[in-house]
Amino acid sequence: MILVTGSAGFIGSNFVLDWLAHQDEAVIGLDKLTYAGNLENLASLKGDARHTFVRGDIGDKELLDRLLAEHRPRAVVNFAAESHVDRSIHGPEDFIQTNIVGTFHLLEAVRAYWCKSSSAEGAAFRFLHVSTDEVYGSLAKGDPAFSETHRYEPNSPYSASKAASDHLVRAYHHTYGLPVLTTNCSNNYGPLHFPEKLIPLMIVNALAGKPLPVYGDGQQIRDWLYVRDHCSAIRRVLEAGKVGEVYNIGGWNEKANLDIVHTVCALLDELRPRQDGKSYRDQIAFVADRPGHDRRYAIDARKIERELGWKPAETFETGIRKTVQWYLDNQEWVRNVQSGAYRQWVEKNYAERG
Ligand code: NAD
Ligand code: DAU
Repeated sequence: MILVTGSAGFIGSNFVLDWLAHQDEAVIGLDKLTYAGNLENLASLKGDARHTFVRGDIGDKELLDRLLAEHRPRAVVNFAAESHVDRSIHGPEDFIQTNIVGTFHLLEAVRAYWCKSSSAEGAAFRFLHVSTDEVYGSLAKGDPAFSETHRYEPNSPYSASKAASDHLVRAYHHTYGLPVLTTNCSNNYGPLHFPEKLIPLMIVNALAGKPLPVYGDGQQIRDWLYVRDHCSAIRRVLEAGKVGEVYNIGGWNEKANLDIVHTVCALLDELRPRQDGKSYRDQIAFVADRPGHDRRYAIDARKIERELGWKPAETFETGIRKTVQWYLDNQEWVRNVQSGAYRQWVEKNYAERG
């Protein structure tokens, strides 16, 4: 079996669902259930003997020692993190605690478990750390996309904390020989995405008749990847990645934020037209920019394609249509995540932007 941390979050839950749709190897999910963790994401697995969920913190070494000894996973896939850049600007502490200190405790527990395993089990074991392209900093227009050897230049408390965790993972391989793999992926989108992030926030606000807040001039560029393509890339790296290596994962799909918002509006105009006959585009509102906002990310995903034969299955056109349709079909999921805490965050983040 494998242990998946952060399994109730956006990508973690997609990964567990995708994993069990492709094979019968059991999964034990570990998640602290912060505001971003949602057991409803895993509701379709109720009664499925292949899935066990445990609520807990990756920083709780005793719990991890116990889980590892009891379940003896052949791999750990680490998604657990604080993941939202704007929240890291308002309050970096949780990011330091989970992304750096938590990853450290997780690595310590995994190292102790791995050291005690038999030589065959130890050789087959993998610790896969899921990271981000944001550790590489910001690109100017025309700069080549981030390769695996691009220097680390994180600019936000979030990306700095992820960079620190990547360095710890690297060090545990070089110092202790722990069989690690690291993936650095671009922006994901798709079902089960918490509506604090750009694409789900735009869909949810549009349908609620609220403003669509575009930071600055909206010309910041991200490289978007459909979440299930990220999941298939991680499965492939776990299966065939070379121990100690880093793999960049991306969708070859650079888009300016404003273009993303226009695409979402056009799809909603087609699938759920406004009652007044106007376009959702009329709801776009330019607001104050994110401090230290990275201008452009782009992933050079040639290594994973060349060495492991992975390529994304979705184009942006197919992926974004599926995504918008999913939100239209899952309004109850949206209502359930929009708790009091969610509303407080939205007020805090957007009130200050004018
Ligand atoms: P998310 O915020 O949706 O989910 C994170 C999950 O981790 C939540 O379920 C949360 O409850 C859990 N968690 C937080 N702190 C924890 C702790 N101390 N112990 C155990 N669980 C904890 O994030 P996501 O978008 O699913 O991202 C998952 C991972 O992928 C993160 O490591 C992120 O840095 C990375 N990543 C995300 C993207 C993206 O576009 N979303 C892109 C590249 C990499
Ligand atoms: O690149 C990978 C990263 O992508 C992951 O590591 C992060 O966990 C994930 O959150 C995401 O980070 P971003 O900051 O790029 O994602 P976000 O959806 O918050 O913002 C995408 C872009 O849209 C960014 O340039 C900021 C802008 N934006 C965002 C929000 C929430 C807006 O213009 N308006 C908004 O209301």
